Amino acid sequence: MPAPIILDCDPGIDDALAIAFASGHPGIDLLGITTVAGNVGVDKTTANALAVSEFIGAAGTPVTAGCAVPLVRPALDAREVHGESGLGGAVLPPSRGAPAPGHAVDYIIGTVAAAPGEITLVATGPLTNIALAVRREPRLAGWVRNFVIMGGSAGRGNTTAAAEFNMWADPEAAAVVFGAGWTVTMLGLDVTLRTSASPAVLQRMRELGPLGTTLLLPALGSYRAGPAGGARGARPRGASTAGPAVHDVCAVSWVAQPGLFRLVPAHVAVETTGVLTSGMTVTDFTVGTGAGNALVAMDIDVEGFWELALRTYAGVAARLGGAQQGG
Ligand code: RIB
Ligand code: CA
Repeated sequence: MPAPIILDCDPGIDDALAIAFASGHPGIDLLGITTVAGNVGVDKTTANALAVSEFIGAAGTPVTAGCAVPLVRPALDAREVHGESGLGGAVLPPSRGAPAPGHAVDYIIGTVAAAPGEITLVATGPLTNIALAVRREPRLAGWVRNFVIMGGSAGRGNTTAAAEFNMWADPEAAAVVFGAGWTVTMLGLDVTLRTSASPAVLQRMRELGPLGTTLLLPALGSYRAGPAGGARGARPRGASTAGPAVHDVCAVSWVAQPGLFRLVPAHVAVETTGVLTSGMTVTDFTVGTGAGNALVAMDIDVEGFWELALRTYAGVAARLGGAQQGG
């Protein structure tokens, strides 16, 4: 039985690859996409989610727009990394569809409330929508089957030396979310930076027809490491020096194949007042399992991850037609 999920995201290059993965994996039922401002403004993240869904043959997946600004701070973005459009070098036909009516926060609450215990909520952007959802309906934390994020880091950041982008963009929202009473499955930079697309991976993407040549490769080809190779350019021990890391695909691949990751119980608190450390996910592994609020991914089977991802993308490519054999 496929796992029903809602994907809250800020497409965004790696969010786009996460949408394609979630739509294509037979073990995932992508119920809906909600969008938030992050990599680019919410108008663009919403348009990108619609365009990507239509391009991969999933035009029926509802896309509901969410928050345009963080809870407290001014909106900042990552256009220097994801490009003006938010999809890097990928130019997709504009969607013929439109966002679903209503707000993402109400969609998340209403959908999860109608199926308590069944739906996995996945967030791959700043946590603004999620924070407002659990504030508006605190029971949400007990109604989800799982809550999974791409975000944070037990070690260094990528936007500052201390903070990963999704947490840095809205630290107050992240603090609300980690304090909501659920257990956050946190796929942070500790593992996601190890998913750089190697030349061999990029070559296999070239065999995926239009999915590879129109979306995956043009998007990844311009996915820069961030301003002048600063904190975002930094890579932790063991990270590949190949292409860009597909951070957000880790969150949806955990839903499909959790055994790819080693999770460690921890308590995670989010810094909201530090001048140098705002958005830092302060991760304490010394707490006992019962006292934690998170399961933090600290290892990944990188080879298994890419085999899963490429196999899933090959399925999407076959749906689109045009994939070469052996893709
Ligand atoms: O730090 C990586 C995260 O920030 C990813 O979700 C990427 O899409 C950006 O939002
Ligand atoms: Ca993202």
